[in-house]
Amino acid sequence: MDTVQQGQPEFGERYGEAVGSAYDRMAEEYDVFDAETPFLINDSRVTRATLEALRPRWEGKVVLDVGAGTGLQTAQFAPRARRVLALDLAADLLRKAREKVTGLGCRNVTFLHGDATFLPLPDGSVDFVCCYGDVIGLIPDYATAIAEMARVCRPGGTVTIEYDNKWHVGLLWRPDELARALRARGMGDKRIWTYTYLTRAERVDFIYKTYTGREMTRLLTGAGLRVVRRLGLHMASSIVPEPYQTVYKDGQPLYDTFKRIILALGRLDALLQASPGMSRVGYAAILVAEKPDSR
Ligand SMILES: C[S@@+](CC[C@H](N)C(=O)[O-])C[C@H]1O[C@@H](n2cnc3c(N)ncnc32)[C@H](O)[C@@H]1O
Repeated sequence: MDTVQQGQPEFGERYGEAVGSAYDRMAEEYDVFDAETPFLINDSRVTRATLEALRPRWEGKVVLDVGAGTGLQTAQFAPRARRVLALDLAADLLRKAREKVTGLGCRNVTFLHGDATFLPLPDGSVDFVCCYGDVIGLIPDYATAIAEMARVCRPGGTVTIEYDNKWHVGLLWRPDELARALRARGMGDKRIWTYTYLTRAERVDFIYKTYTGREMTRLLTGAGLRVVRRLGLHMASSIVPEPYQTVYKDGQPLYDTFKRIILALGRLDALLQASPGMSRVGYAAILVAEKPDSR
């Protein structure tokens, strides 16, 4: 994938293809990165606890995991759901997800290599749709992806999305993004996240679209869903500048002291996540929405 020019991020025409192949090249190291990066350790602690709290909505039911990657959330659902449909653009990540759930002894997962903007599923066929890990920020046609999630969700079912939040504490360290955020009124902007492969001398700049809470709520409402809960992630921990959150050497985070600080701040964030004021300034947020039962 081409490196984007700082200050002028655009998705470009073949962004989806580029994203799929960049993630495919990450397949062998994705889970190592996930397990070692303090930001992602904090993230998966919140997403895991959130899905656990939502378990009555998906246990024994049909779950769709949109942007399943290596199966972080799929592996949580599989032992207790009736059936899990795990969809992703990156075939090599799905191969890793398959290994993971097979290792758990689960045979109720169907892997779908495809695009979130065109879900190969009938209307109303899923009880619970999960789209975690900022997948929605990577999709240029995000409105169509949300409409698709709402379409396949049955009346009375749930759609939950994790997204990158526009206004976050870390903007203090990102003057370029702050300037763009101030220019984009009423809606989110684009955020650049640079990934340096652990196993090769290559880096890739991912462009993530950010959202305001109001904007994401509007998108979900426009697709016929009703938002019932909002949680913030990475409020306090975003005070630590981004390079210290992700820089690696020899496959390990370079700054061990920062790792400890970020993990401690993550525990503070877990206490603050439901506070309406604080959740507005997190690096990311989760919305839980229901599809009204028409009966
Ligand atoms: C940061 S990963 C998150 C994976 C997983 N949900 C997790 O939390 O570990 C983002 C994933 O979104 C997938 N993705 C991006 N755009 C997509 C699209 N249009 N349709 C399906 N998957 C997509 C990528 O291939 C990648 O696996």
